[in-house]
Amino acid sequence: MSLFAKKPLDQILAQAADSEKGLKRTLGAGNLVALGIGAIIGAGLFVRTAAAAGQAAGPAVTLSFVIAAIGCAFAGLCYAEFASMIPIAGSAYAYSYVTMGELIAWIIGWALIMEYALGAATVAIAWSEYLNKLLGGAVPYEWCHSPFESFTDSAGVLHQGIMNAPALVILLALTLLLIKGTQESAIVNAIIVFVKVAIVILFIAIGWQYINPANHTPYLIPEGTAAVTDQAGKVIADYSGWNKHGWGGVLGGAAIVFFAFIGFDAVSTAAQEAKNPKRDMPIGIMGSLAVCTILYILFGHVLTGVAPWSDFVDPEKGREASVAYAISTYMKEYQWLAQAVTIAILAGFSSVILVMLMGQSRIFYTMSNDGLIPSAFGVLHKKYQTPYKANWILFVFVGAFAAFVPGHVAGDLTSFGTLFAFVLVSIGVWILRVKSPNIERPFRTPAVPLVSTLGAVICLAMIAGLDAQTLKVAMIWMVIGLVIYFTFSRHRSKLRTS
Ligand code: ALA
Repeated sequence: MSLFAKKPLDQILAQAADSEKGLKRTLGAGNLVALGIGAIIGAGLFVRTAAAAGQAAGPAVTLSFVIAAIGCAFAGLCYAEFASMIPIAGSAYAYSYVTMGELIAWIIGWALIMEYALGAATVAIAWSEYLNKLLGGAVPYEWCHSPFESFTDSAGVLHQGIMNAPALVILLALTLLLIKGTQESAIVNAIIVFVKVAIVILFIAIGWQYINPANHTPYLIPEGTAAVTDQAGKVIADYSGWNKHGWGGVLGGAAIVFFAFIGFDAVSTAAQEAKNPKRDMPIGIMGSLAVCTILYILFGHVLTGVAPWSDFVDPEKGREASVAYAISTYMKEYQWLAQAVTIAILAGFSSVILVMLMGQSRIFYTMSNDGLIPSAFGVLHKKYQTPYKANWILFVFVGAFAAFVPGHVAGDLTSFGTLFAFVLVSIGVWILRVKSPNIERPFRTPAVPLVSTLGAVICLAMIAGLDAQTLKVAMIWMVIGLVIYFTFSRHRSKLRTS
């Protein structure tokens, strides 16, 4: 059987009907928009906005948001076509198994591990930053940073990270919750979404009065900006690269804040529960994207107006827990807001981690049922009916990243994995239009191939805007995936052996 063996569509739909019995079509457009917003707002906004401003885009991080949103919108429309045509769990992995065959499905599944598992690690690391801020810095630098991070403070003392213990603790707590089942947490989730959005709006509204126009000039990081070093002369930010200043920096910033949009594709996984997928899926995907984009641009504008972007590179200023830092430093009358924001952010991050861990275990579950990864990933707990072995294996993997890898590295790899999946989904929509024009498509992406091509091109441009180091590690990851496929998965695939 060829590398491009496809899973028959009727078989996958029957499987889905079997394993997801009881799913009812109850979600309207409004619910889907809320679901999207719940999955989207998190560390990307509260941590990576400042990182993008400080390292690449300056105040023009607002424009970075626009670029990232356009790429997401085009790719999102392509997701919507797949989601309405193949309305099953497993997202891009499942779509490509039917449309582009096993090898591409494997590659996407492997890239999605970066999106979900490393995404969860990134948000756990961000959670640790804000927790430490709330505790007034009670956790020593050594125990809340990876061994690859160090800096010399203004007193000349060298701090060397050992492991990020708080990140590990939150992952453990949420893994236990997932194993027990998350049915009960739907209401908690709804409250968290509400609080998260309220805090963003509050920060924008109050912070607006504290904008110092001088902080917005110049709007782009100028060419020739000197590198920032710590007391010992170690470089902590270098602006010489093409993607670290000027318009290149805006694209580099887009690749960094792209993380903030990850999760809107989660709406597509609810296609089976949408009342009217044809109308509601595009509204759900595009609606949640639109709301978040507006909030993000306003948020970026206020954050870089309240604090100068250069504060966001300094480990002794706003490099970590940037929003709480900006409020407590520049909006002194609103100390209570800094506390409230931090608590809301901690809760908000927890829900994003939960969604990501759950998404990953679902994808593992589907891949294991297909025989592409060991069957342990598909074993359900007798009492709780959750894929508990997958959850534990995931905890070890995600925990190792969260404890020992710097947040920006995990975050950039997450962006890579997701952008890569977006590119393949965008191309896939077009391929399938040409190859199988007659399949029923409840929702059709408008203006294919224009929209799909633009989706792929903009996402590829953002991939190019990532750090050279990130791209190197991502390539190694993809090669490891191919080795596993050709030595293990290919021979165990149920599609081939049945
Ligand atoms: N978009 C999600 C976040 O920003 C992943 O945390």
